[in-house]
Amino acid sequence: MLIENQHYRTVWYDDTTRQVAMINQNKLPFVFELVYFKTYQETAEAIRDMTVRGAGAIGATAGFAMAQAFDTTGDLVKIQEARAYIEATRPTAVNLFYATEKVFNAGKEHRNSAMVAAQQIADEDAEGCRLIGEYGNTLIKPSGRILTHCNAGWLAFVDYGSALSPVYAAHNAGKQPFVYVDETRPRGQGARLTAYELEQNKVDHRIIADNAAAYYMAKGAIDMVITGADRITANGDVANKIGTLEKAILAKEFGIPFYVAAPFSTFDFNTPSGDMIVIEERSDEELLYHEGPDEHNIIRKIRMAAPGSAGLNPAFDVTPHRYITGFITNRGIIRPDELKGYQ
Ligand code: MRU
Repeated sequence: MLIENQHYRTVWYDDTTRQVAMINQNKLPFVFELVYFKTYQETAEAIRDMTVRGAGAIGATAGFAMAQAFDTTGDLVKIQEARAYIEATRPTAVNLFYATEKVFNAGKEHRNSAMVAAQQIADEDAEGCRLIGEYGNTLIKPSGRILTHCNAGWLAFVDYGSALSPVYAAHNAGKQPFVYVDETRPRGQGARLTAYELEQNKVDHRIIADNAAAYYMAKGAIDMVITGADRITANGDVANKIGTLEKAILAKEFGIPFYVAAPFSTFDFNTPSGDMIVIEERSDEELLYHEGPDEHNIIRKIRMAAPGSAGLNPAFDVTPHRYITGFITNRGIIRPDELKGYQ
């Protein structure tokens, strides 16, 4: 994607420095910074502390981390330990496990194949998301008004994104999409990252408070909802950023189509239904403090909740398949009841 007229992927392997390179998402949108990691432990840490985040980007990064482990040792016990270390970073997005398994299996056969497999995962992610854009664009009206939650744009993948890819495709095709951007408390991926992406790409949008969606839906101001997904189970249930379930219930109430955009690497056909998904619990600091840059662009935290109170901070929720109109995938648009044919 273009930032200041230069093309970037969210994460890549830098052949010159032989390091994993990525955009530091913890500093966006205030500071654009590239960071580089030499070891699999450092790369895994970047997933844990959300320097890189979003299902596809996490997957590609985990693949590169796994390949870095093969670069340092041929000892399969150590490689198994590395895999466990990488897989312990974040539990919900299935793309992470998809990537570690693929790269592990490739490297086990031929050590040199690990990096090739990791690169393939990154390239497939980008191409899959480009296709999601093409299919999803067919659903967007010339002046379509779309609500999205969290960030499932190109920052959440290697390129293009899932939920935002159709929006970019529509925009590039000369349509005039308008995006309602849920701020997405507590970390604010919508207000920070989705808004940043749309602004960079000159797509018309407004940030709205997380609790404003019903107001706009009731006014008839929203034509469709498109979100991303972190894991989609065999029956079509979807784990996505906390607050997604609420939007899905609202969309049904107001008769608004609710689409989930995701490449096939996000489908987990081994898990029958959403109640079996492990939901990540994160530190309540994300909820109790606000983050922003000071006058020197150093990111600072300020407490905005009552001193002494603790919080609860589940990172994801599960939307049952009955709320979902369709999945916008790299293989086309699929209704939940059609999923069986793809397993
Ligand atoms: O916790 P994050 O930022 O890694 O969460 C991922 C997300 O951005 C959303 O849940 C998104 O809609 C799915 S990832 C494409």
